[in-house]
This record gives sequence, structure tokens and C-alpha cells, in this order.
Amino acid sequence: MNELLIDRTDGVLTITLNRLEKKNSLTRAMYAAMADALAQADADATLRVAVLQGHETVFCAGNDIGDFLNRIATSQESPAFQFLRAISTFSKPLVAAVCGPAVGIGTTMLFHCDLVYAGDNAAFSMPFVNLGLCPEAASSYLAPQLMGYGRAAEALLLGEPFLAETALEMGLISRIVPPTEAAALAQRQARKLAAKPLGSLIETKRLMKKAQVGIVAERLQEEGASFARLLQEPAAREAFTAFLEKRKPDFSKI
Ligand code: COA
Repeated sequence: MNELLIDRTDGVLTITLNRLEKKNSLTRAMYAAMADALAQADADATLRVAVLQGHETVFCAGNDIGDFLNRIATSQESPAFQFLRAISTFSKPLVAAVCGPAVGIGTTMLFHCDLVYAGDNAAFSMPFVNLGLCPEAASSYLAPQLMGYGRAAEALLLGEPFLAETALEMGLISRIVPPTEAAALAQRQARKLAAKPLGSLIETKRLMKKAQVGIVAERLQEEGASFARLLQEPAAREAFTAFLEKRKPDFSKI
């Protein structure tokens, strides 16, 4: 089965994560296909809006841990980095439907979406430290901006998950709905956006993001370099091995 479904209908690009047996964790091939689809949609005047969605039970379990363990590079040229660049510079509206767990990049990609509709089963987490890593997707800047430093520290240092109500209060998501309704609502809102003048949408998004665009680009680079370094270190190797062996990691000797 195709791990990523891409649909282009009525001016809306819809990307569906479809790797349910691995909780929609993202492989290199999936990142590459998402980056390509977003870049093409940005350049295609017939596509006006993009939608990202997973399944009613799980949005995305983050990067594939096996790929991390196999030392698959996360250089600035890697598919994951290309996806982050594409999503963080996408000029048209981005809508997401999020149900169930949204882990790591499953949460941080939402900082770059404009409208996020969450199922009441959504659970967001950024457990980078627990994996011996550091934030990505400019979340080290965007999380404190959005959540305030105290809550960002709980989310990023402790890696504590937060639920849809908290995400709504912070402004990370736009609305909470039953999980069975999230995808349909995202599509309805996307079609409303697609019927509006594209130039006005692009200009309005550009103006709203103007203050942060330079900082986000710079932070993506800096986080990327740290992340790539930490990925090779013993703490991360232990965390990934422990996850795949279904045991708790032991950082006591690291
Ligand atoms: N990479 C690779 N495989 C993953 C994965 C990931 N990020 N997340 C889940 N899987 C796999 C599991 O290894 C398991 O595979 P198996 O059936 O071959 O044993 C399968 O998906 C089901 O996962 P499981 O943990 O049993 O499901 P769950 O419903 O109990 O928990 C999650 C779901 C998402 C909460 C949990 O899988 C999880 O925490 N995943 C890791 C998230 C993570 O740390 N991501 C990296 C962030 S940077």
C-alpha cells in the first residue's frame, strides 16, 4: 500500500499519511514525496491550499526510528530537511487534520500550518530530549513564542505530552471536533479558502509571518546542525535501540 496518498482536487492538494502499521512515522521516501508535492503546489496556480492529514486514530509518530538508527543522514540536503524547508516557506494556506498521537515532527510541523483541526483524541508531544536529540522545525523558537517559556520547557525539556484542550488554549490548533469529523472539516475549510482570491491569501499569510520568517530560516539551520550531531551520539543510539527493543532507555552511563 502507498505510504503517502496525494490528491489534487478542486484547487486543494491533500497529503494523507498512510503508514498505519508504523503509526504514520515518516520515512525518507515520505519526506521526499511531501517536499515535492508542496513545492509543486506552491508553483502551481491551480492549487490554492494544501491539507495534511493522517488517520482518525493517529496523525504521525514522528521520524521513523529505524531510519534514525541506521544513521540515515539528516544533512541540510536530506529529505526531512527539504520537507521542513518546504512546509516553513509554503506561501499558500496550509490546513491540517490531527487525530490521535502527533509525536516529534508530527507536532512541530503544525507550527507551520495555518488552520489545524484536531480530534478530541489528539495528543501532542515533542520528546526530543528523551531521544537524546534537540528540537527541529524551528520549534525551539516557535514553541516558546506560542506557548510561553514555562509551558514550552515542560513540552521540550521534559517531553511531556499535551492534549487538544491545551493546544487550543495556546493557539496551536483552531478547533476540536470528534475524530470522525476532523478530516471532513479540514476539507470544507480548505475549499472555502480555495474559493477566495489567491493573491490576497498569499499576501495576508506573508504579512502575518513576516516578523518571524528570517528567524525561522536561521533557526532551522542551527537546529539542523545540532540535531545531526546529536543523532550520532551514544544517548540517541541508546534511545533508538531501546525503542525498537521495547524497553526503557538507560542513560545512566552516558
Ligand atoms: N518509528 C518506527 N516505528 C514506529 C514509530 C517510529 N517513530 N512509532 C511507532 N512505530 C512502530 C512500533 O515500533 C510498532 O511496530 P511493531 O508493530 O513492528 O512492533 C508499531 O509502530 C506500533 O507502535 P506501538 O508503539 O506499538 O503503538 P502504540 O499505539 O502503543 O503507541 C505511539 C503509539 C505513537 C504513542 C508510539 O508508537 C510512540 O511513542 N512512537 C515513537 C514516537 C517517537 O519517539 N518518535 C520520534 C520523535 S522525534
